[in-house]
Amino acid sequence: MSEVTDKKVAILNIPGLDPIELPILKGTEGPEVIDVRALGSHGYFTYDPGFVSTASCKSKITFIDGEKGILLHRGYPIAQLATQTDYLQVCYLLLNGDLPSADQYAAFKKRVTYHTMVHEQINSLFKAFRRDSHPMAIMCGIAGALSAFYHDNLDIYDPEHRELTALRLIAKMPTLAAMSYKYSIGQPFMSPKNDLSYAGNFLHMMFATPCEEYVVNPVIEKALDRIFILHADHEQNASTSSVRLAGSSGANPYACIAAGIASLWGPAHGGANEACLRMLERIGTVERIPEFIAKAKDKKDPFRLMGFGHRVYKNYDPRATVMRDTCHEVLKELNIKDHPILDVAVELERIARSDEYFIERKLYPNVDFYSGIILNAIGIPTNMFTVIFALARTIGWITHWIEMNEEPDSRIGRPRQIYIGNPTRDVKPLAERPDCPKKF
Ligand code: SDX
Repeated sequence: MSEVTDKKVAILNIPGLDPIELPILKGTEGPEVIDVRALGSHGYFTYDPGFVSTASCKSKITFIDGEKGILLHRGYPIAQLATQTDYLQVCYLLLNGDLPSADQYAAFKKRVTYHTMVHEQINSLFKAFRRDSHPMAIMCGIAGALSAFYHDNLDIYDPEHRELTALRLIAKMPTLAAMSYKYSIGQPFMSPKNDLSYAGNFLHMMFATPCEEYVVNPVIEKALDRIFILHADHEQNASTSSVRLAGSSGANPYACIAAGIASLWGPAHGGANEACLRMLERIGTVERIPEFIAKAKDKKDPFRLMGFGHRVYKNYDPRATVMRDTCHEVLKELNIKDHPILDVAVELERIARSDEYFIERKLYPNVDFYSGIILNAIGIPTNMFTVIFALARTIGWITHWIEMNEEPDSRIGRPRQIYIGNPTRDVKPLAERPDCPKKF
């Protein structure tokens, strides 16, 4: 479905110029968009730090309606995907444009399964890192290094190479993620097992040891698979935009995924799940919540409520709803009754959602608010939370990378700027120069 152009135009009146007609575009869903590309030929460009009101591309993959709390992947609502499919079906959906038939699903699952192992020499790459390295630092390095192992199919213009790269990344990210965990605790790497599900295999590689099998709990396996689904893709978020911008120069897909991992790591983005759990632990008790709510409102205090707010959602994040239900399922299955962090989370949400500051700014819990509690209950260490987000988001990143490379008029991304520095000036001879005012 291409964008629907209904010949509407916006008229821009700039003093000294004839009125400029700017086409108004309309996608199949979402608001109308003013196409400002013609501005350049009139010597003007737009200013929109953080791209709050700027579309960087056209895409068919995901649609979000922030006001209504809607998230669609290729048209399917996230709540239906999270409860009626599994992560590999969602990977197939994102890559191919629709959900697989039973035969297609079986074939896809088999292809992914036979790519879960990593090259033996990658094991020694881990040894270059200190044992106490943050797993996200390791993942940034290892993901980029994958291009050194797969240069035999890095022709980004070859659809078969693009598909094989997507399969390799979907299959290998859980293996690499579990390896980053095992390396950090000094345990041997566990090889993937072909008879386990995608989520079950990850749990096995995380928690099994050569001395003891890990028995996959089906409730935990389903909860983790659902967490993968809820993190799979989310339009042009910071990390996906980083992958697209890196890819727009023709960079290889593994280097672009490394750029996505690096961007996701920030606490304002994918690092929020780790930051949120640490915040809940720091709050510690329900009684201390008002103190932290006050800090979140204090403009002089950089503290923000991690897991709250979203650039697009000005309603409840539909993923947070599913995540909250899954959280209660996991705690029930594990017979965890008085989970102090959950008590703080539930009370924090209740207070925040009745507080004028948060209501006025439409700050609701987002996908990161409850995910950390589930991962913590499963026994996954806090510094692995964003690694799991990166594992799950890899399908979104590579699908957008493919969509961008399939776009016939895709161009290198090169934003402009408003220059506010020094006007032209001449260099003074060294002996005549005054001290430069210290900045750092
Ligand atoms: C993800 O883009 C995506 O789709 C991302 C993601 C994905 O799937 O890829 O959904 C995943 O990154 C979710 C967001 C995770 N981040 C956090 O939970 C960190 C805490 N949240 C904030 O840092 C913030 O809400 C952002 C970064 C998520 C959104 O920031 P915006 O859109 O730039 O909003 P803003 O900073 O302009 O905030 C608007 C107002 C400000 O107050 P005023 O200047 O109007 O007085 O709301 C306030 C902010 O100070 N505010 C918060 C707040 N978030 C915004 N105040 C307290 N606590 C918060 N969490």
